[in-house]
Amino acid sequence: MKKTIVVYGSSTGTCEDLAARIATALGVDKNAVVNVSELTPEMISENEALVLGSATWGCGELQDDWYDGVKVIQNADLNGKVVALFGCGDSESYGDTFCDAIGLLYQEIQKKGCTLVGNGISTDGYLHTDSAALDADGNFLGLALDEVNQPELTDSRIAAWAEQIAPTLQ
Ligand SMILES: Cc1cc2nc3c(=O)[nH]c(=O)nc-3n(C[C@H](O)[C@H](O)[C@H](O)COP(=O)(O)O)c2cc1C
Repeated sequence: MKKTIVVYGSSTGTCEDLAARIATALGVDKNAVVNVSELTPEMISENEALVLGSATWGCGELQDDWYDGVKVIQNADLNGKVVALFGCGDSESYGDTFCDAIGLLYQEIQKKGCTLVGNGISTDGYLHTDSAALDADGNFLGLALDEVNQPELTDSRIAAWAEQIAPTLQ
């Protein structure tokens, strides 16, 4: 398996919990689950696959700790790496900015020479009206999770996503 790190930004613990569950589903060691506030350039350079996640805060913004994390990403060489994105949000109270942070992370990695995996996720079954995390076909650029309104769907969404990206991590 490719050396993989799961990086999360979380203010109240939801994205942190999801990162751990995603790591388990992917078979990634829990020591490779890292709070973005502790992300270093070395962690990026020594891993072949990066699973990057953020809660969405404000009105469609990155979780606060990601503002410094983004600078680490901007200064890193992502050529040849595999990147997957995930996020969590609230599709009812913030229905038109649902999981926007996934889209913001995508903007940071899209021209960095890495390969995006775990994208093209259908929005079927979600409750939002709009999101910056959608691609040109209207599919999510990564795994969007809603622990506020649809927690009962999280395990199956993680399992399906993990199954989709697992071959790309081999
Ligand atoms: C003030 C505030 C602003 C929020 N803004 C958004 C938003 O724009 N889009 C969204 O999808 N969720 C939004 N949320 C919901 C959070 O993303 C959601 O509660 C998430 O699970 C928090 O994750 P965390 O505990 O990892 O920080 C907001 C929540 C609060 C309290």
